[in-house]
Amino acid sequence: MTSKPFSDPANTWDKRFSGTEYVFGTEPNAFLSSHRHLFGSGKTALSVGDGEGRNSVWLAQQGLVVDAFDISPVGVAKAKQLAQRAGVAVNFNVSDCDSWNWKPTAYDYVVAIFVQFADPDMRHRLFSNIIKTLKPGGYLILQGYTPKQLEFDTGGPGELDHLYTEELLRSEFADLRIVQMKVYESELNEGSRHRGPSALIGMVAQLPPAAL
Ligand SMILES: C[S@@+](CC[C@H](N)C(=O)[O-])C[C@H]1O[C@@H](n2cnc3c(N)ncnc32)[C@H](O)[C@@H]1O
Repeated sequence: MTSKPFSDPANTWDKRFSGTEYVFGTEPNAFLSSHRHLFGSGKTALSVGDGEGRNSVWLAQQGLVVDAFDISPVGVAKAKQLAQRAGVAVNFNVSDCDSWNWKPTAYDYVVAIFVQFADPDMRHRLFSNIIKTLKPGGYLILQGYTPKQLEFDTGGPGELDHLYTEELLRSEFADLRIVQMKVYESELNEGSRHRGPSALIGMVAQLPPAAL
């Protein structure tokens, strides 16, 4: 189910999240959970554009101290319910990515899963802020759709300039060490909005540890 960008994203996403169903499911994104070996208990994580909480709740279940934000109050309310049901604590916030208080060198992990709401200018600000908020040695785990997804039409923004290529990500994250860059096709089964054959990109990148 592809969608166009919209002028009032909080309201649009509130409507999408208004039912009882979790529209991307309650299980974590598969690319994220395939990297569970990276996560050390007690470390800090930020989930960006966290939606209904499936990824932040899973991160908390890995023993991490998790902050999360999303522009949709309805999504955040459902995320809180999911965390309560799972018996874990997440510091949930309603925030636009441009208004979030991006603390410098704050997180061991930043997770950005399908945050392709951002047009190129917003995306550049978002990616710069992600780099700023990582601790030296910290990891970014990111998943998105590639331009080929426009052929599949099974999820994501229907706008070419919101989609990611390997070249784009390597350029935006040139200061990070690319641990994994995976361009692939897979059958997604994430609730009702991400379902079917999909053209994906997954990246794990590390801010170089501080020199001793
Ligand atoms: C495709 S959903 C992905 C949600 C979540 N990351 C996941 O994988 O389940 C995109 C999310 O971005 C949020 N969003 C849209 N525009 C935003 C903005 N400007 N700042 C923060 N979040 C935004 C939406 O409310 C929605 O929850």
